[in-house]
Amino acid sequence: HPKHFLDIADFDASTLNGIIAQARAMKDARKGCPKGLREKDEPLKGRMLALIFERPSTRTRVSFEVGMRQLGGETLVLSSNDMQLGRGETIADTARVLSRYVDAIMIRAARHSNLTDLAASATVPVINGLTPLTHPCQVMADVMTLEEHVAPLKNLTVSWVGDGNNVAASWIQAVGRMGGKLKIGAPKELSPAADVMAWAKAQGADVSVTTSPEEAVEGADCVITDAWVSMHDTDGETRHNLLKPYQVNGALMKRAKPDAKFMHCLPAHRGEEVTDEVMDSKNSLIFDEAENRLHVQKSILLHCLGA
Ligand code: CP
Ligand code: NVA
Repeated sequence: HPKHFLDIADFDASTLNGIIAQARAMKDARKGCPKGLREKDEPLKGRMLALIFERPSTRTRVSFEVGMRQLGGETLVLSSNDMQLGRGETIADTARVLSRYVDAIMIRAARHSNLTDLAASATVPVINGLTPLTHPCQVMADVMTLEEHVAPLKNLTVSWVGDGNNVAASWIQAVGRMGGKLKIGAPKELSPAADVMAWAKAQGADVSVTTSPEEAVEGADCVITDAWVSMHDTDGETRHNLLKPYQVNGALMKRAKPDAKFMHCLPAHRGEEVTDEVMDSKNSLIFDEAENRLHVQKSILLHCLGA
């Protein structure tokens, strides 16, 4: 089987911590280097990564393109609109064809089943670059960021405030595998998916859900939020109404631990889910976590391609 990277729940703690440790080592070794400089040993020299986008992206696209090149490899960016995929060619056939041309495939999928169908038929590693259900690369970068700035995840209390969405689901999986305490504050209608919560419970993970944002941030080392309306959502107005009380602002941050950090996967909607005051505060880690997408995905690529 190819070594896919589909979801955090698929891996044990030692593999996940190993990927993060390798990312930190590569990041440290590059301090002050030009961004376009390749790693000396070019471990992915001659390898080709295809990036399929069924949805737009800034960070995921640029961090995978730059990361693959730093490792000595090359990339192909494919918008699903420009592929026969957009005219009804099956995912399975697309997977079989691409596997003849490239060494690995990343997909940002419009449906989670597009990711799993691709992985089932590809003979090369497939990486999840976000689906409506999960965003594992993002949360790997987030965990790396928290460990750099605060402490190992297993010693931390993390609060998720707002929509119980794809990034939240990957956070639940991260705590299920790597430990730590996750407190989710979300409206009942937008609670995390029942199957992910049941999985967390079966792991004995310390994950709780409340409808109170104040209760959710109590004791938090870090408060995290995300857009009220994700790319796959169609009910924007309902979501705005439900999520208005969940804005992360200065008053809510004061109820977390003194000096609690703030994270957001970006893009943010300033003035909606989070205020400028919090985004631009000294405890905001938003650009460090964006940077760490690059480092952690390089480590994920090395894991998948066995280099
Ligand atoms: N956080 C994130 O995945 O950003 P993009 O949508 O810009 O890739
Ligand atoms: N939850 C957001 C994350 C974007 C990176 C979305 O799915 O649109």
